[in-house]
Amino acid sequence: MRSPFRSFFLLFITLAPALLNAQPINWKEIFPGVWKGTAGKPDAYDLLKAAETPPSPALSKLPEQAFPIPKEEIVFRVQQGKTYLRFPLEKAEQLYGFGLNFQTIHQRGRIMQLHADHYGKSDNGRTHAPVPFYVSSLGYGVFVNSAKYIDVYAGSGVRKDSKNPPKVMDRNTDKNWSAHPYSDAVEMLIPAEGIEIYVFAGPKPINAIERFNLLSGGGCLPPRWGLGFTQRVHRLHTAAQVKEEAKAFEEKGYPLDFIGLEPGWQSKSYPCTFEWDKSRFPDPASFVKEMDQMKVKVNLWTNPYVSPDASIYKKIAPFTGSHTVWNGLVPDLSMPQARKILFDQFEKDHVKIGVSGYKIDEVDGFDSYLWPDVATFPSGHTSEQIRQTYGLLVQKHSFEVFRRNNARTYGLVRASNAGGASFPYVIYNDNYSHEDFITALINSGYAGVLWTPEVRASKTAEEWLRRFQTVCFSPMAMINAWSSGMQPWTFPEVAPQIKALAELRMRMMPYWYTEFAKYHYNGTPPFRGMNLEEGFGADLKKEKTPTNLEENPYEEAVTKEVKDQYMAGEYLLVAPLFTGQTTRRVILPKGKWYDFYTGKLAGDGEVITISPGMDQIPVFVKDGGIIPMMPAALHAPLSGEKTDLEIRHYGQKNGNYKLYDDDGESFAYEKGAFSWRHINVERDANGKLKGTISTGENGKPSTVGNVTWRFMTE
Ligand code: GAL
Repeated sequence: MRSPFRSFFLLFITLAPALLNAQPINWKEIFPGVWKGTAGKPDAYDLLKAAETPPSPALSKLPEQAFPIPKEEIVFRVQQGKTYLRFPLEKAEQLYGFGLNFQTIHQRGRIMQLHADHYGKSDNGRTHAPVPFYVSSLGYGVFVNSAKYIDVYAGSGVRKDSKNPPKVMDRNTDKNWSAHPYSDAVEMLIPAEGIEIYVFAGPKPINAIERFNLLSGGGCLPPRWGLGFTQRVHRLHTAAQVKEEAKAFEEKGYPLDFIGLEPGWQSKSYPCTFEWDKSRFPDPASFVKEMDQMKVKVNLWTNPYVSPDASIYKKIAPFTGSHTVWNGLVPDLSMPQARKILFDQFEKDHVKIGVSGYKIDEVDGFDSYLWPDVATFPSGHTSEQIRQTYGLLVQKHSFEVFRRNNARTYGLVRASNAGGASFPYVIYNDNYSHEDFITALINSGYAGVLWTPEVRASKTAEEWLRRFQTVCFSPMAMINAWSSGMQPWTFPEVAPQIKALAELRMRMMPYWYTEFAKYHYNGTPPFRGMNLEEGFGADLKKEKTPTNLEENPYEEAVTKEVKDQYMAGEYLLVAPLFTGQTTRRVILPKGKWYDFYTGKLAGDGEVITISPGMDQIPVFVKDGGIIPMMPAALHAPLSGEKTDLEIRHYGQKNGNYKLYDDDGESFAYEKGAFSWRHINVERDANGKLKGTISTGENGKPSTVGNVTWRFMTE
C-alpha cells in the first residue's frame, strides 16, 4: 500500500489517540462537597504527600452538595508522558487564585507556569506560593495536586471543536474585534503520566475555599502572642543590643510580643551553622530567658543551607542534594533522615531553650542562587518536585518540633504551596511595593496561605505611617528592620500615630484571635478579597450592559479588579491609602456600612470618596457587626490571664458573634480544651440595643473578665 492514502492513514492512526482519546477520571466523593478524581498514573510524590496533614474533621460535617460543574467536561489525557487537563468555563465566570499573585486578582485569560520562586514583578506563575488551586465566581474550586511545574491557560485557548466558539469577527470593520477571543476552558499541562484532582463545591466561592483549606487540616491557629507586634532587629545586633531594644519598646510604651533575630545570631550564615554566635550571644539560654521575663519571645532567621562549619554537616551530607546553595548543602527534607538531623538541631539548640519560632528564608528562589533543575536528590524526587514542596517541608517539620514541645509557634517563611494552610507561617518577600503587598494580601485568601505587607524602611514619615497602617490590619504586624535598623518611633513626627495604631492592633486581639480560630475550624481565610463578600458585585450570572459606574458600583466590581481594599475577618472592610494619596474611592458592598472609628453610617452599596487624613486607615464595619476588643496592652495576654472585653456593636441590625477562647499558647485545643462564647446584640421592648454573652463552659478555658458594651451607632 504505497500511496498517498497510506501515508494519510498512517498519520491518522498515529494522531487519532492524541486528538480523540480522552481517558477516564475515576471520581470519588471523599467528603460532602469534595470530590477526588484520579486519572492515569499520578506521581507517587505530590503536594499533599509533602504536607502530610490530615483533613479537618469539620469536612465530614459540611452539607451535601451536587458536583458543581459538568463532569463530562473535565477532560484528561496523557500524551508522551504528559498530562493534559481541561475544565469548563462559562461565559460570565471569573477565576481567582492560582497562587500568591501580586498584581492581579482576576485570573481569567491569563497564562502562567506555576513555579516556586521569588516574585519577580510579574504574575507569570512564578511566586512564593504557586498553589494549583482556583476558585470560580460561580462557586466552586479546583485543585490539581501535583508537585510539578504546571502550565496553566486560564481561559485563553480556543479549540476548533469548542461547543461555545467565539464569534468570528472582522477586524477591518468590527469595533468589538478582540485579540483575546472568548475561551470556554481552563487548560493545564503537567509533566506527569497522571494526576489527582480535587473539586470543591460551594455554593458560594468562599465555601469552596473553606473546603480547600479544611482538606489540609484547616487554617493555622497562631498563639495569641503571634498576633501582637513584632520587630526584627538589625542583622548584627548582639544579645545586649536586642535586650536594649526590647527595653526601649517597654519604656516608650510600644507593644512588642516577639523580636526576630536576623542572620548574625548564627556563628556563620549563608551557608548556615544553625549554631549561636558566641561573640554576639555568649549565653543564649539566659538571653532567651531574660527576654521571656520581659514578655518578649525570640524568633530566629535561618535558611536551610548547611555550612561546612555546621556540627551537623558530616551527618547530614549523605541526605543532601547534588548541588549547593551559597556553598551550603541542601538537605533533602523529603527524607526522614535529613529532617531528623536538621530539626533535632533546631530543637536542641533553640526550641528547648525557649525560642518561639523561625523565619525560614530563601526556600523559594531566585533561580540564580537556588539549586538548578538538573540537581539530583537522594530520595529520588526530582529537583523540580523538591523545589515545589520545599516551603511545605520546612514548615511541616519545624512545626512538628513545636508540637512535640507543646508550644505553639508563629513564624515566617518565603515559600509555601497547597497543603500548607495549617502551618503557622506567614509569607513575606523582598519586593517592597506597598501596592503589590496589598494585592498579595488579597490573593493570600484565595491560596490558603498568609501574607504580611511588612514594613522595612521608608523615605518619609508619610510612607512609614501608611505602611504601618496596613501591617496592623494583616496576619503579622511586623517591622523588618534587618538592614535599616528602624524602629516604630524613628519618625518622631508620626510616632504618636504609630503608637496608637500598634495599640489598636492589640486592642483588637480578641477579634483577630477569633477570626483565626474560624480559619482553623471552618477554613475561612481571615484576610480576603472583596469578591468573596456577599453583596459585592452584581450577580455574575447575568449578562451585563455597560452603565454609569457612579450609579452602579457593581458594574465596576465585576469588570474591574479591586485590589486596594479587602476584608479583615467577618465584619471589617479595610481601604488603605498609599503614599501621596489624600483621597480614595471605596466600593461598599450592598447593605449598610459604618465607620469603624465613629460608628456613623458610611454608605450602602455605593462608591464613596473619602479623605481620611494621615492618621487613619479607613475601616468600615458591616451592619450588625460585632467587634470584641480588649484594653491596650504591651503584650498579648498569657495563658490563663483574664482579659476585660469591650464589645462593640455597629449599625442597626441585631448582631451575633461567636468568640473563641482557649489557653492561647499550647496544643490543648487539639484535645478539646477550647470554647466558643455566644455574643448577641438585640433591641429590647423600648427599641434599645442590649448585649448578652454566654457564660464559659464548665471545665473549658475561660479568659473573659469584665464585659462592657459599646453601641457605636446610636
Ligand atoms: C532576605 C530576607 C530579609 C532578611 C535578609 C537577611 O532574604 O528576605 O527579610 O531576612 O534576607 O539577610
